[in-house]
Amino acid sequence: MEELNSTFLYCDQLVRDFEKVIETPVVNKSSVYYTGVDLGTAYIVLAVLDENYQPVAGAYRFASVVKDGMVVDYIGAIRIVKELKQEIEEKLGTELIYAAAALPPGTDSLDSGAIKNVVQAAGFEITNVLDEPTAANAVLKIKDGAIVDIGGGTTGIAILQDGKVIYVADEPTGGTHFSLVIAGAYGMPFEEADVYKRDAKNHRELQPIVRPVIEKVSSIISRHVRDYPAKEIYLVGGTCCLAGIEDVIAKQTGLPTYKPENPMFVTPLGIALSCTQEEL
Ligand SMILES: Nc1ncnc2c1ncn2[C@@H]1O[C@H](COP(=O)(O)OP(=O)(O)OP(=O)(O)O)[C@@H](O)[C@H]1O
Ligand SMILES: [Mg+2]
Repeated sequence: MEELNSTFLYCDQLVRDFEKVIETPVVNKSSVYYTGVDLGTAYIVLAVLDENYQPVAGAYRFASVVKDGMVVDYIGAIRIVKELKQEIEEKLGTELIYAAAALPPGTDSLDSGAIKNVVQAAGFEITNVLDEPTAANAVLKIKDGAIVDIGGGTTGIAILQDGKVIYVADEPTGGTHFSLVIAGAYGMPFEEADVYKRDAKNHRELQPIVRPVIEKVSSIISRHVRDYPAKEIYLVGGTCCLAGIEDVIAKQTGLPTYKPENPMFVTPLGIALSCTQEEL
């Protein structure tokens, strides 16, 4: 069904191109490079676009420097962003100057500039800080509906009407909870459970084990969308890589639910698309 959904044509192509350049960067000279820095609970991702906003490089690292959208290891976050920046600079043979970053919805007052400071301390000029679902929609380009970003630590929800975000929310349930449930069920350490979960070969077997967590996420989505005219759900975030998650969410919420080919890099690419050359 997703394959026929033209909504994802641009998104799927962009993500595919990005996956390619993570492996093999495009070293053609560009007059400017735009970087998106996604400081997530599970991954820190850097996505680099050229002057035409086409992906040219990317790098990511599993990290625990952010919890529930808050930077908890400030020094660690700076070090990793710096390292990823350097790694890409060496591959591209250029300096990366401009970057944009994003915050989970509703945390801007709590964050008090921490994410911006991390990106600056890593050596970037920061040109934009936006909320994550708005960033995701720079890739999805949805006019009406709900974007749900199920990441590592949290589930972010944005409701769109006529292309504008009219409501955002963020709740502390995400992939970490899936891994905890798997760890408990299989008597595995958390890290092992997380690796096991990320292997698509295990998804069918895991379905009954993770179903209650998907139902919990569904009830969170239902609670937030019920007062709004959202008639469709669009899934992004690493946790949505789980096979069949869209079917359970559709059933539980009663709303048609769609996801792109690879929901994992949508938000980081959206952040990069929102990068400009004007310092904040
Ligand atoms: N193929 C996969 N199958 C299932 N889960 C996956 C897969 N790939 C990644 N994940 C899970 O996705 C989560 C990370 O997703 P993502 O990178 O969107 O989160 P994040 O941005 O770091 O976190 P947050 O947005 O909550 O701060 C992790 O829990 C990870 O285990
Ligand atoms: Mg995220």
